[in-house]
Amino acid sequence: MNVVVRSSRENDRLALARLFAEVAEERDGIATEPPVDVAGRAASWRLEGDLLAEADGRVVGAIHVEASRHGYGEIGMAVAREWRGRGVGSALLAAAVEWARQRGLHKLSLSVFPHNEAAIALYRKFGFVEEGRLVKQYRRQSGELWDAIEMGLLL
Ligand SMILES: CC(C)(COP(=O)(O)OP(=O)(O)OC[C@H]1O[C@@H](n2cnc3c(N)ncnc32)[C@H](O)[C@@H]1OP(=O)(O)O)[C@@H](O)C(=O)NCCC(=O)NCCS
Repeated sequence: MNVVVRSSRENDRLALARLFAEVAEERDGIATEPPVDVAGRAASWRLEGDLLAEADGRVVGAIHVEASRHGYGEIGMAVAREWRGRGVGSALLAAAVEWARQRGLHKLSLSVFPHNEAAIALYRKFGFVEEGRLVKQYRRQSGELWDAIEMGLLL
């Protein structure tokens, strides 16, 4: 796998927002649904705590750690559909864990939809455990109300 994981930079903003918009189109793994204001997302993207995976100069995945003032960081991540199942998500998560440890965070947290088997398997592989379930938390554009599972990893 010819993929490099590195910190996101200023000139990655548009590629990161495009990837996010692409994954939102799936209406499945992440909370955001279309339409995504790509230019707006690009402009407001928080680069602090953001890592990306690059293959042949193309952004194929990204992970964000939003460090709180209370010692934990909240994670969000996505891999381009055609790149899934090849270890990109694992490489990103390993890098995010390392980043969080270096920052002195004591814990990583995340929310995941219960049907998202690939994501839950990935998080479990890294030692994340289920801490609770938010019932009918997310109202989808379809009108469905989706639960969310809270997971955490003590560092
Ligand atoms: C979740 C996601 C980030 C995983 O990224 P990925 O690059 O496919 O992950 P990897 O290839 O590193 O796989 C990691 C582990 O997940 C599991 N996994 C991967 N694909 C799977 C699938 N389709 N079904 C079940 N488990 C799967 C495996 O345990 C795998 O570990 P292994 O290869 O050592 O057995 C990716 O599927 C994605 O971007 N999905 C859409 C957005 C999303 O759901 N984001 C997370 C929101 S909480």
